Amino acid sequence: MSIKGNARESILLLLLLLVVFNTNATSTTIAEDSISGVVNEWKRHHLRSGDDASHSDRQLKRPSKKHPASSPSQSPTASPTAAPTMSREQEWELNKAKWNCFISGGSNARPYNGYEMVFQKQSQVVDYGLPYRVTVNKDDKVFLVRQMDGTPVNDDGIIDWMRTVDEVFQVIADSWTNNADSVAVTYDAEKGHPTDCNIDQDSGAADDEIIIKILNATLR
Ligand SMILES: *[C@@H]1O[C@H](CO)[C@@H](O)[C@H](O)[C@H]1NC(C)=O
Repeated sequence: MSIKGNARESILLLLLLLVVFNTNATSTTIAEDSISGVVNEWKRHHLRSGDDASHSDRQLKRPSKKHPASSPSQSPTASPTAAPTMSREQEWELNKAKWNCFISGGSNARPYNGYEMVFQKQSQVVDYGLPYRVTVNKDDKVFLVRQMDGTPVNDDGIIDWMRTVDEVFQVIADSWTNNADSVAVTYDAEKGHPTDCNIDQDSGAADDEIIIKILNATLR
C-alpha cells in the first residue's frame, strides 16, 4: 500500500471513530448508516474501478501504482480492527473489504488467480486438526491441499474439512445468526482475513467448539 493510501486509511479510521463516538449517544441506526458510509468510502478508495459496478470486488481494475511489494513499514497503520467502538459486524465488514482489496492486488491491481494459505481447523470430534497448506483457485474453490512439508493430501475427509477465506467469513456470520454462545475472532491487520476464530455454539454441550486459524495468505 502506498504511503498516501495509508494516510488516507488512517484518516478514514479516525473519521470512523469520530462517527461512532459522536453518534453513540443519539441513535444506533445513524451510527450504523454512517459506518457503512465510511466502510464504503474505504472500499471506494481501495477498490477504484473503471469497470461495471456489478462486477465483484475482486475483479475490479484499478490504476496500477508502483510501490514496494510488502515493506514492513506499512503494517503499523493497518489496524482499524483494534477500534473498540466498532461492532463485530462492522469489524467483519471492514475486514472483508480489506480482504477483497488484498486479493485483487491492493494498489497494484492484478487479475485474480486465487491464493495460498496455511489453514487449520480443529474440533474435538474430527481428527483433521493439523495445519495444511491450502491453495484456492480463481473460482474460489479449494483446489490443492498439502501437508506442511509440501506432500499433497489425497484424503477426501481432510480436503472437505478445508475452507476458503470467504467460507470462514460466512462461518463467522452464521455463528452469530445461530446465536452461538461464544464467538471470538481476530483478523489480519493488513490482509483482513480471519486469523483466529473460536466458535462455541453451545457452551453447555461438549465437543462442539471449532477453532479455525489462517495465516501466511499469499496471492497466486
Ligand atoms: C509463514 O511465513 C513465514 C515467512 O515466510 C515463515 O517464516 C513461516 O514459517 C510461515 N509459517 C507457516 C506456518 O507456514
